[in-house]
Amino acid sequence: MTYRCAVIGNPIAHSRSPDIHAAFAQARGIDLRYDRILAEADNFATIVAQFFANGGRGLNITLPYKESAYRLCEQTSADARRAEAVNTLWQENGRLCGDNTDGRGLRHALEHEHAYPLAGKHILILGAGGAARGVIAPLCAARPARLHIANRTTAKAAAIIAAQQLHTTVPLTAGSLEDLAAAPAYDLIINATSAAFNNTAFTLPDNIAHPQTYAYDMTYGRDTPFLDWARSHHLTAHDGSTMLQAQAWLSFQQWFPA
Ligand code: ATR
Repeated sequence: MTYRCAVIGNPIAHSRSPDIHAAFAQARGIDLRYDRILAEADNFATIVAQFFANGGRGLNITLPYKESAYRLCEQTSADARRAEAVNTLWQENGRLCGDNTDGRGLRHALEHEHAYPLAGKHILILGAGGAARGVIAPLCAARPARLHIANRTTAKAAAIIAAQQLHTTVPLTAGSLEDLAAAPAYDLIINATSAAFNNTAFTLPDNIAHPQTYAYDMTYGRDTPFLDWARSHHLTAHDGSTMLQAQAWLSFQQWFPA
């Protein structure tokens, strides 16, 4: 039997998910067809409904539809509710279910692929869009000492921590990018901005890094202003390829439990 899965987004041509899932399926001996589906805002919900009505096994959701997909779900995981967004859909007893594996994928990538334990660390997240919101709860579950969100628009960072602080004892703080000029050095700096995709200026002060600061960019497959900054400060720096792989594996396990 051929199982059908797909990733939906816009744009979608660049998605690496089909190759990643093909490798997982091959390793497990599963006959899988995994497509890329380009959706528009006005046909996204119909495409999802038709996919499952036609026997589809699972969907990955990527930008800009993770929040829309969350709103379609009839059942959601705790991580999906914390993120208010899903990247993984499946059906159970005719109900549309959703999970967000991005944050657990990031945690797994850092702790296991890069052997970088998060417990006790001082973490800085740059950005306060969907990408940032999606990873905060799973990062906090790893017991860092504290987590600060810095964003160009401070109010968005403040809104995220107000919502997330209800669910964790890890001290969460928020501020502007300018405030970072007076901030201490952080152990781990995670870029969750989309600065690589637009041509606007992106600068960071030197004081936020110490010689052992670890830099991780959730963007993958391209050079970013953040990675340039990290390398120019001689920091250990990685792009988001390991997170991509780990979030995909968590989705695959949901659709095809071992
Ligand atoms: P995503 O879902 O990928 O997080 P998003 O919701 O559009 O996308 O959020 C993008 C994030 O990158 C935002 O935090 C944005 O800052 P604002 O909230 O002030 O818009 C941030 N961002 C984008 N370009 C940036 C730049 N050049 N410098 C700093 N932050 C930037």
